Amino acid sequence: MFDTMTITKAVAGVCTALLIFLFGKWAAESLYGGAAEAHGEEHAQAYVIPVEDAGADSIGGEAVEEGPDFATLYASADAAAGEGLWRNCRACHSLEAGKNGTGPSLHGIVGRTVDAAEGYSYSGALEAVYDVWSPEHLDAFLTDPKGAAPGTKMTFKGISKAEDRANLIAYLATQG
Ligand code: HEC
Repeated sequence: MFDTMTITKAVAGVCTALLIFLFGKWAAESLYGGAAEAHGEEHAQAYVIPVEDAGADSIGGEAVEEGPDFATLYASADAAAGEGLWRNCRACHSLEAGKNGTGPSLHGIVGRTVDAAEGYSYSGALEAVYDVWSPEHLDAFLTDPKGAAPGTKMTFKGISKAEDRANLIAYLATQG
């Protein structure tokens, strides 16, 4: 009986010591683990910020498009290839000065003031967005005319391929 009591106490003591040890270990690990987690979150944020910047850099209708930016494409644009794309525009536009059709004459359009073709009745939607038809503005407008200049009466769906737009604008720059 005495022996049993001693053994019981000894076993209880060992178990208690073990539990305290395990609890201590668990507490220490969860504290350490928690700290490590917070640290990991900092890293995740530091990683997200440059990704958001990259998105902001590509504002201008190009957000979903991969590949070189407009300046790069325009610098090496092929005006001869652009001439073939003019077929998308000729139904409504002429390149002759003063000759308006459904759309205004695009004679000398690159660098021209917006809404400036003489004798053409514009909607006013374009000059609400742009001042001068710089190559960059033409690129943004021609990507999605209705999206870029809401209310425009140019019913053209746009040219989705960035390279095509750069080539076409390079061609227009040779006209006038
Ligand atoms: C279905 C007819 C139509 C087609 C096709 C069309 N346009 Fe237009 N475009 C218009 C009309 C109409 C306007 C006048 C828009 C307004 O006043 O809102 C216009 C306006 C413009 C302007 C502004 C001109 C200025 O004087 O400010 C540019 C630039 C232009 N178009 C380029 C193009 C190019 C490049 C293409 C071919 C890729 C094209 N358009 C295809 C009808 C068309």
